[in-house]
Amino acid sequence: MVHPAAVDAAPGAPPGLLNGESVTTIGSTVTKRRSEDDVPLITASPALTGALQQVLVDLIELHLQGKQAHWNVVGRNFRDLHLQLDDIVDTAREAADTVAERIRALGAAVDGRSDMVAATTTLPAFPGGEQDTATVASLLDTRLRATAATLRQARDEVDAEDPPTADLLHAIIDDLEKHAWMMRAENR
Ligand SMILES: [Fe+2]
Repeated sequence: MVHPAAVDAAPGAPPGLLNGESVTTIGSTVTKRRSEDDVPLITASPALTGALQQVLVDLIELHLQGKQAHWNVVGRNFRDLHLQLDDIVDTAREAADTVAERIRALGAAVDGRSDMVAATTTLPAFPGGEQDTATVASLLDTRLRATAATLRQARDEVDAEDPPTADLLHAIIDDLEKHAWMMRAENR
């Protein structure tokens, strides 16, 4: 099959030229290279960066609550759950870093300060003091699903504008929901 570009391309243009692309002649050489001024800089809309900022604060809060649980959990199956909670903390920390750096790559500033997290997180508060293992597994299940819900909402909001960001959120949703299943399995 003949690619439409082959029809539209300028005579003598390099193969694979797409519709709308131009060619430049440097001396006797035809090139597809962009000019310095023809390289797009990706900048996100406030709606996109706002959705990602909400994801960021919920991931930071999840990391903090995971550590609170890791330190205060007691009871049967303590050691397994104690270690499993650090897996959740690692997931939340790494995901927060990924999302924050995506916001920066899209040209906006991030706000990961504790005051901002406390003021804007959507996660339920975590109880103070020692908590038994069954309670902790239930608390973490809820908070992992709450965080995943924030990511799912953000994914729906950003999907049309920026598919690469939606892909990034997909991977994090998968990790969070896997951890949530593991927490629920503790109490069956
Ligand atoms: Fe520890």
